[in-house]
Amino acid sequence: MSHAEDHEGTRRDFLYYATAGAGAVTAGAAVWPLVNQMNPSADVQALSSIRVDVAGVNPGSQISVKFLGKPVFIRRRTEKEIEAAREVELSALPDQNAQNRNDMSLDAADQNRTLDEAGEWLVMIGVCTHLGCVPIGDGAGDFGGWFCPCHGSHYDTAGRIRKGPAPENLWIPVAEFVDDTTIQLG
Ligand code: FES
Repeated sequence: MSHAEDHEGTRRDFLYYATAGAGAVTAGAAVWPLVNQMNPSADVQALSSIRVDVAGVNPGSQISVKFLGKPVFIRRRTEKEIEAAREVELSALPDQNAQNRNDMSLDAADQNRTLDEAGEWLVMIGVCTHLGCVPIGDGAGDFGGWFCPCHGSHYDTAGRIRKGPAPENLWIPVAEFVDDTTIQLG
């Protein structure tokens, strides 16, 4: 790792912890991943896959977990947020790719970015696609989604870039529901 990369990593970590600290106050406990610490290979498995209990996440709220060294936002959207995301024409989007790591051929329609068909669950890597700051959530920015204060990137309620220097929508990690209240990342 070059010195420059190392420096960038340190900076991101700092920004993440600053955000996570604020989030933890409102989100409460019981949001950390269920990593099996008894298993000798758990630390190895934890690098590639974690499970998150989302039973306590109510509509209109979100939690952040750390996965592969990055924050992951798990938001349970309100009806209003879903509607706002779904009424946007694709042509209005600067980045027309869903940026969904489950299937990179999908276009940026809202349905292609959520974990469930109803569109309630939005899981995203919480790293601005401009230079890697952690955006602020909970209805921030001009489009009611996320806002990156570093250079002013505005993301909508589906985490798609709408205004500002970020070139891509917030990335969707490989993720799925493994039961009604558990999301597996990786
Ligand atoms: S890092 Fe987010 S706008 Fe530059």
